[in-house]
Amino acid sequence: MQEVRSWSAPTRGLHALMLFMFIVMYTLAELMDWTHGASKHEVVEIHKSIGVLIFFLALLRLSWNLTHRGPEPIGTPQQAKLAKGVHHLLYLLMLVIPLSGYVMSMLHGKSVDIFGWCTLPSLIAANPAFKEWSENIHSALATTLLIVAGGHAAMALYHHFVLKDVTLRRMFKG
Ligand code: HEM
Ligand code: HEM
Repeated sequence: MQEVRSWSAPTRGLHALMLFMFIVMYTLAELMDWTHGASKHEVVEIHKSIGVLIFFLALLRLSWNLTHRGPEPIGTPQQAKLAKGVHHLLYLLMLVIPLSGYVMSMLHGKSVDIFGWCTLPSLIAANPAFKEWSENIHSALATTLLIVAGGHAAMALYHHFVLKDVTLRRMFKG
């Protein structure tokens, strides 16, 4: 089988776009603690809308990558296996975090409006007993993503600056 040398343009574009979207998401989450009343409501609404968009973009990105093979990670077979495992974990978190936000909103009895275009159906009845529990899960998953993505980014920079290979360049420059 011929070796794939670089990531396709859609993969690179979606990787960069979603990196930017995650930075916006964590900034909005931080802003939630600094705002009150109508402004906080506005921040939460934008957070929810972008979060739902992330879910669908992750599905799109996953199906594209499953049908268009990318290059193998550079390193020993064990390192390559670890890198791929981390990518799988990142996909899992990109899908599960928005779902946990959706479940949390339903348990709070709040609707999820996507930029005012449409409203997601409420599939679970509001239940204040699980309110705190769902908030803790959403928050813990978001923290896990920060740690895993942080390690992933650190490894990419290690490849670029220490090992001086093409790992970073082939994702950001093609
Ligand atoms: C896609 C990635 C997402 C990330 C990385 C993310 C991250 C976060 C973080 C870090 C917080 C703050 C938690 C805390 O202060 O302990 C938060 C709060 C929240 N998120 Fe998300 N979230 C995402 C998607 C969503 C989605 C799709 C929804 C709903 C459909 C949602 C709904 C909420 C709500 C309701 C809160 C709590 C707001 C409040 O304090 O009342 N999130 N999120
Ligand atoms: C500054 C932050 C980041 C840097 C420098 C970075 C760098 C990279 C690099 C260089 C690759 C290619 C690895 C290879 O060719 O072997 C890659 C792939 C990947 N990255 Fe990142 N990344 C960052 C943030 C993220 C974030 C926030 C996510 C998801 C939440 C993510 C998810 C992925 C995934 C799933 C792949 C595999 C290719 C794909 O399916 O798109 N990355 N990243």
